[in-house]
Amino acid sequence: MISEKLVQKLKNAKSVAVLTGAGISAESGVPTFRGSEGLWKKFKPEELATFDAFIRNPELVWEWYNYRRKLIQEVKPNPGHYALVELENLVPNFTLITQNVDNLHRRAGSRNIVELHGNIEKNYCIKCGKRYDDVNLALEMKVPKCDCGGLIRPDVVWFGELLPVDQWEKAEEAASNCDVFFSIGTSGVVYPAASLPQIAKRNGAYTVEINIERTDLSWFMDEVIIGKSGEILPEIVKKLKEALAQKS
Ligand code: OAD
Repeated sequence: MISEKLVQKLKNAKSVAVLTGAGISAESGVPTFRGSEGLWKKFKPEELATFDAFIRNPELVWEWYNYRRKLIQEVKPNPGHYALVELENLVPNFTLITQNVDNLHRRAGSRNIVELHGNIEKNYCIKCGKRYDDVNLALEMKVPKCDCGGLIRPDVVWFGELLPVDQWEKAEEAASNCDVFFSIGTSGVVYPAASLPQIAKRNGAYTVEINIERTDLSWFMDEVIIGKSGEILPEIVKKLKEALAQKS
């Protein structure tokens, strides 16, 4: 199932970049956003994941984020997350760009992580910007307030908001300069994140998609591997280790 071409590309790669989406955490038990069981089938993003929604009803928005925060705290990284930690150790330069806010890549042990959509375990005051990264703060109060009186919000990117500039710049640079680019467990419909595989492709990277089904990005990928990331990624790492062992 894993092509020899991909193994050779990885073996010779100086730089590898990976974009992950909700699908990589699906096998940990974190719901994805789209698809028949997706969060956006049951909940309305305009009521829960916009700045206007937060100002209108901060209690409801906090309830939603506390529900997801609790869910995430109760699950563990899966073999897909751990395989990416191994991959980081096997290639000279590695950047893990994630759209996920669930912190599971960090908990698995990945180091060079770019968080495009923020992190659900972090918060900040909308008035003075003071950071509140104590994860339990939000679980204790219905609507957490800053010392200055301002509302505290989760440090996640909502619809209509810009991505953190420093994170986007790192992502764009990694995509532009990599030899192999993976798009894993993302539907590829939310921009600008979804433009990264195209940036990589334009700059000559070998582009690979891993997903349980074809996506809007599949048509231009050099390889599309249909399957669960928690099964495919460990297989890729195993094959790469075998190939690297042959070299020495
Ligand atoms: P989606 O829910 O749109 O897509 C999840 C993708 O994962 C789908 O293409 C599934 O087919 C795939 N998938 C599911 N299980 C899988 C598995 N075990 N292995 C591999 N693939 C699997 O999630 P994202 O693409 O991450 O934004 O969504 C992008 C953004 O939309 C999110 O970051 C979030 C959301 O609104 C913000 O919160 C700003």
